[in-house]
Amino acid sequence: MINRGGIVAALGLSALMAMIVAPAHADPDNNQLIIDGEVIITDVAAPDDSPLDRIYSGWRFRSPETQSLQMDDFENPGFVAVDDAIESWDTAEGSEGKSCASCHSDPSSLAGLRTTLPKWDEATNKPATMENLINRCRTDRMGAEAWGWEQKEMVNMTALVSLQSRGMPVNVQTDGPMAEWIEKGKDLYYTRVGQLNMSCSNCHEDNYGNQIRSDHLSQGQVNGFPVYRLKWAGLGSIHRRFKGCMENIRATPFKRGSDEFIALEAYVASRGAGLAVETPSVRN
Ligand code: HEC
Ligand code: HEC
Repeated sequence: MINRGGIVAALGLSALMAMIVAPAHADPDNNQLIIDGEVIITDVAAPDDSPLDRIYSGWRFRSPETQSLQMDDFENPGFVAVDDAIESWDTAEGSEGKSCASCHSDPSSLAGLRTTLPKWDEATNKPATMENLINRCRTDRMGAEAWGWEQKEMVNMTALVSLQSRGMPVNVQTDGPMAEWIEKGKDLYYTRVGQLNMSCSNCHEDNYGNQIRSDHLSQGQVNGFPVYRLKWAGLGSIHRRFKGCMENIRATPFKRGSDEFIALEAYVASRGAGLAVETPSVRN
């Protein structure tokens, strides 16, 4: 069992103590995520080497109103982005006069890919995220300009491609050449940073289920990304969320697409192994 009070004691009269309150409903709820009649798994036994007993999708910590938006693709505001990406999928761009469809036919040909990312990439000798893989096609195969990490077209496309894996369990490689990167991500996850001197684990491992300010803390899983955040009034990438969390503890965030965030993405994904892909998920 996790001792959620332990960290507060360890920090003494810290910023954390001032921010986190343990309310009556200190756990994920028991609601079931059902989309189009299909049950999407939102909790599973934690992977073998996990410090947790059970892992939960962030969906389980959201209010019933926010949850319901994700249960109906017509109400889910993330689907506007998916529709835009379908258009962009069929649009030829760049010196080769090709569209994504020219080579990949239908987006469904990339089903399953999301569950494996980031994955080892021989070409660059480091892990590749979906953004990296899409941009390689744009620059090397289409003769088009790379998209920016958080550029609308990029985020929309990662949503369309990830949606093809919805319902499939996250299953990133953690051994072989990935091991070093997972280890690096783990170090970052447990290192305290920023003026508040906190680590990812202080919130998402020690205190999930508790309220922080007006927010219900989840385990900080990445199975729903890119997510539609009501606060952003749009979709955002995994690295955008990491950046926001680092800023909230007044740390200098790493850059989107940096080796640090790629390592962190790989490690966080491995902590969520077995959870179903939920893209595009809806969060507050
Ligand atoms: C000229 C042909 C071509 C075009 C155009 C193209 N791709 Fe690719 N794409 C490939 C090839 C070849 C691969 C590598 C095949 C592989 O790894 O299975 C690939 C790989 C990928 C991958 C990684 C797949 C995997 O399993 O690792 C993604 C994602 C992807 N493309 C997305 C796109 C998107 C999105 C577009 C449009 C913006 C696009 N591609 C345009 C040929 C193309
Ligand atoms: C001060 C507490 C705090 C710290 C430290 C913190 N986060 Fe968060 N994080 C939050 C809150 C609050 C949210 C929004 C509610 C939720 O999903 O937990 C959030 C959300 C997230 C989400 C989105 C989860 C989802 O289902 O949409 C991810 C991913 C995440 N954090 C990762 C990280 C990582 C990685 C770190 C370390 C770099 C980190 N967080 C550090 C408070 C924190």
